[in-house]
Amino acid sequence: DVGCSSNIRWHESPVTRDARERQLDQRGCVLWMTGLSGSGKSTVAFTLEHLLQEKGKVCYVLDGDNVRHGLCKDLGFTRESREENIRRMGEVAKLMANAGIVTVVSIISPFAEDRDRVRSSLGADFHEVYVKVPLSVCEERDPKGLYRKVREGKIKGFTGVDSPYEAPRSPEVTLEAARGEPADMAKELYEYLEEKGLLK
Ligand code: PPS
Repeated sequence: DVGCSSNIRWHESPVTRDARERQLDQRGCVLWMTGLSGSGKSTVAFTLEHLLQEKGKVCYVLDGDNVRHGLCKDLGFTRESREENIRRMGEVAKLMANAGIVTVVSIISPFAEDRDRVRSSLGADFHEVYVKVPLSVCEERDPKGLYRKVREGKIKGFTGVDSPYEAPRSPEVTLEAARGEPADMAKELYEYLEEKGLLK
């Protein structure tokens, strides 16, 4: 039922994005965190949210696992499902950036093509953050016991093992596990936002 778009139209709000951002004293943007399962995306994302909240800034984390409980609960992990998952996350993030919110998306988003589509749609609002942690380290950590299940043959098509992960070619930020604790990485992202003038 995609044909209905011919009978709908865009409603312009009298409240501009600029006005929303002035009210919040910040700029809306999307930090798109991509990386393997167990790389620490969610931990860094939520640590950053807390840091921003303490500084009086409005941030919200769209976490892959969390959004799969609701908006994306109909999706699995096939190529098509992941593409749709990323598309929906991109659309929600776009609305949130328009609301003036510092939006942090933490989602594996393994395919460069899907991430690039979101980049094109969001333009300058899109900031790709590569959480660069080797597979061996993620497997060693195995915070949810998923890699063990993969090795036992209980999960198929797992990213990095028997489903591809395409690392970003030119991310705006690369966070390396070796660089420190989640709190240090969150601080690095905070400083990036400041440098870009997104926190005013
Ligand atoms: S994706 O690829 O971007 O659509 O994935 P995402 O929405 O981020 O969901 C990843 C979390 O789902 C769990 N999980 C899997 N990950 C990868 N591959 C397979 N087959 C899979 N099955 C379940 C896993 O807990 C991921 O969570 P994180 O937080 O990344 O570890």
